[in-house]
Amino acid sequence: MKITTKSIIEKKGVEKIVAITAYDSLFAKLADEAGVDIILVGDSVGNNVLGFENTISVTLDMMIHHTAAVARANPRAMIVGDMPFGVSHYKGESLLKAAVRFLQEGGAQAVKMEGGKESAERIATLVEAGIPVMGHIGLQPQKFLKLGGYKKFGKTEGEFESMLEDAKAVRDAGAFSLVIEMTDSETARKVSSSIDIPTIGIGSGNGCDGEIRVITDVLGLSEFSPKFAKKYANLRETAREAIKNFSREVKGDEGI
Ligand code: KIV
Repeated sequence: MKITTKSIIEKKGVEKIVAITAYDSLFAKLADEAGVDIILVGDSVGNNVLGFENTISVTLDMMIHHTAAVARANPRAMIVGDMPFGVSHYKGESLLKAAVRFLQEGGAQAVKMEGGKESAERIATLVEAGIPVMGHIGLQPQKFLKLGGYKKFGKTEGEFESMLEDAKAVRDAGAFSLVIEMTDSETARKVSSSIDIPTIGIGSGNGCDGEIRVITDVLGLSEFSPKFAKKYANLRETAREAIKNFSREVKGDEGI
């Protein structure tokens, strides 16, 4: 049976939620066959697949294109489309139109939006229209230029209080789940136990209700991976060797 927002919410306190990114049909099918609960079509497509330095260059059209490719895999997993840089800050009708494109053209079942309390009103606008929203606090990669790089969050008492307020505001706005990225593990654990929607951690220790990873990190395909991201295979090496072997055979005396 297709995974829904309801089944995701019901997993809190019962079983861990497994989420992974995918950006096309090929990898979405693999992730679905492996039994993940959520496939996030992350704007990390920008730096992981499209050759951009970060996620800032990713446009709404690109996101819809990749989300639709994932939807063509027809996964049992819930598909969440990531609202890209700038777009999640649109207001009213523009915001609604962008999110509707993910559901109608992209075939997603929900959208993800970076931002804490400052995003609550915009999250509520979408939820009121029947669009499920996954929140995202802690490190928000779309703030890369403002932050001047990536860093860990929630390390001081003040940051903990602020993150707790963010989590509660996102929850009160109607989000069905919340990504907590690159956050001190105790802070992430305390935030998770203070709200009644599932939290999904990345680089935030093991106290969240689920975990998400970038698929190219899990498979060992990424050129660079964050320190916390364990490789479960080394497909980069395997792929390079396969192409070399093909090349050798083509050029070899015996031919192919
Ligand atoms: O775009 C992405 O891949 C993400 C995850 C890291 C949560 O936002």
